[in-house]
Amino acid sequence: MGQAGLYNRADPSIRQGSYMAATKVLVVDDDLNIQRVLVFTLKQEGFEVHVASDGQAGVEMAASVEPDLVLMDVAMPKLDGYAATQAIRAAEETGRHVPIIMLTAEADVEQRVRGLRAGADDDIVKPFHPLELIARIKALLARSGRGQAPKPGTETQTLGRLCCFYGAKGGVGTTTMAINTAIALASRLKRGTALLDANLQFGDMRVFLDLGLDSSSIVNAISEPDLDADLLRKLMVSHHSGIELLLAPPNPESADLVAERQRTDPRTLSNILALMRRAYDYTIVDMAKQIDDFNLQLFDEADMIFVVMTADLSCLKNVRLVLETMDSLGYERAKVQLVLNRSNAYTGINVDNAESALGRKIDYEVINEYRGAISALNSGEPFMWSRPDGPLGQSVSKFARELDAMLALELATT
Ligand SMILES: Nc1ncnc2c1ncn2[C@@H]1O[C@H](COP(=O)(O)OP(=O)(O)OP(=O)(O)O)[C@@H](O)[C@H]1O
Ligand SMILES: [Mg+2]
Repeated sequence: MGQAGLYNRADPSIRQGSYMAATKVLVVDDDLNIQRVLVFTLKQEGFEVHVASDGQAGVEMAASVEPDLVLMDVAMPKLDGYAATQAIRAAEETGRHVPIIMLTAEADVEQRVRGLRAGADDDIVKPFHPLELIARIKALLARSGRGQAPKPGTETQTLGRLCCFYGAKGGVGTTTMAINTAIALASRLKRGTALLDANLQFGDMRVFLDLGLDSSSIVNAISEPDLDADLLRKLMVSHHSGIELLLAPPNPESADLVAERQRTDPRTLSNILALMRRAYDYTIVDMAKQIDDFNLQLFDEADMIFVVMTADLSCLKNVRLVLETMDSLGYERAKVQLVLNRSNAYTGINVDNAESALGRKIDYEVINEYRGAISALNSGEPFMWSRPDGPLGQSVSKFARELDAMLALELATT
């Protein structure tokens, strides 16, 4: 078993008397530094940690320790992570399936696919943020009904997250980000995801997603006095990527109607949002730029506001104004996050410049790929669906994963 016992804080005599057995995580990695970081992070979270320093020892310990979850490195002596994963799966009795997360060296699709083929349930790319790893572990444990998973019933009662995408300026890519993030959450992370087009006057999801004009929209939802979950579901438009949409009004006149309804009775919008949160893990909202009653209510009800921006002077000026507004609304800083779109486009202003001009960090960056974005737009197929592994797809995928990890973590700690 090599140095298996080294980090094993499980003292059988203590465990026997303890009220509840800790969740066991088996770390299979030959890199001592990574072992140390993982053991530290996992123990802080209250996991019982076991370590194997090569694939062969990992397979043996998976059988002897019976962990609740395995973290598996890819490149290791004796037996690599793929072979070890296969061996663990082959030795498993029917009905048993220990969740395995592969620790891959790079976001190389081939590597990831190999890992999943070998029988891994999820993967995380090194170097990763410890918090992201913990969030993934908890999510996977919850899904597999193991360890520190929520008590039965609690998961379905958990409200989904409401994430607003707000452009600091027109044309910075807010709609692009909202749609493709939603698709990444649905298709890659298997989250129930709804997309609300809150551009009342000029909603363009119909164009972006090549949908007909006659479909139902938020007008129907907000005008319906007895809106409930069933009715709302009927008003949602399904897209083949797996997301469901509540579309913007089909014309400006009906947009006025929606704004008017919200103004006279804000509960109408609250009710729609509450129903969406109950039905989906994520409700992604593509917002219009003006700061009016409708948008203020969206800001208020959101769990997270992603301010989409680009690195040019006029946009930076707007971001400052937006941040001041958010401050004056009393939102905590973590609720408002900055997403720098087209981050590598040459604008003469780099990320450092932007950060020092704003006096705060840019939280996320998404790359510039004009051709990928525009061809997706013209074909009516979002790039996250038609080319998820293209550079832009990967960049937004990464953003969606981080968003998901952050919110899953928040869920786990609240
Ligand atoms: N990361 C990117 N790389 C290259 N082009 C992009 C990127 N993101 C968005 N674009 C392009 O920028 C243009 C504007 O995008 P989009 O419509 O999403 O912006 P918006 O902020 O929603 O605009 P509006 O203010 O009109 O609602 C589109 O042509 C889109 O293809
Ligand atoms: Mg838009």
